[in-house]
Amino acid sequence: MAEDPHALFDAWLNAARASEPNDAEAMTLATAAADGRPSARMVLLKGHDRRGFVFYTNSQSRKGDELAANPYAALLFHWKSLRRQVRAEGAVTPVSAAEADAYFATRSRDSQLGAWASDQSRPLANRDLFEARFEATEADHEGRDVPRPPHWWGYRLVPERIEFWSDRPHRLHERRLFTLGADGNWAEGLLYP
Ligand SMILES: Cc1cc2nc3c(=O)[nH]c(=O)nc-3n(C[C@H](O)[C@H](O)[C@H](O)COP(=O)(O)O)c2cc1C
Repeated sequence: MAEDPHALFDAWLNAARASEPNDAEAMTLATAAADGRPSARMVLLKGHDRRGFVFYTNSQSRKGDELAANPYAALLFHWKSLRRQVRAEGAVTPVSAAEADAYFATRSRDSQLGAWASDQSRPLANRDLFEARFEATEADHEGRDVPRPPHWWGYRLVPERIEFWSDRPHRLHERRLFTLGADGNWAEGLLYP
């Protein structure tokens, strides 16, 4: 039986939380447009369990457009202080509205207002315009809760491949690859560094 890669990921993330100076949950999210051209950016991991890795964003952003056209992605964690990386790949599905609502409710009020005020990834003529939109959004919501914008969503990458990379002296690194079989079980193997 292979080790459970989700439990191993949790152990590595916990070690990173203890050792990284900030944002141990930061990960690179790589997506590709319908024509196959890739793009990458950082996002924060906001949930992880056996179902997969969850992040939140504006579904009308560049990444949101790419995921709508091509719902597969790759995630990459690099914990510099530990000299470790984790790569995960698989299909991406939206989380439920209830899950997105529950997470949105935990965000600070200003970041909730920002989610309404920002047309993420669209051209912005100048910074003042964004600040004015933020203030107008703030005035609109005075004295009431800020609901989740309909375009603000969570996505879950459901991994079918997870690789754990650890630094070893002289670049003789260790690479443990877990692949999900058709039977729903994980198989484990090694890769040359
Ligand atoms: C450490 C870090 C964490 C970030 N986390 C998020 C995030 O969780 N969600 C998000 O939408 N953008 C996040 N961003 C901003 C994205 O990197 C990116 O600028 C934005 O989402 C627009 O990307 P897009 O135009 O490719 O859609 C983060 C940036 C950094 C540097």
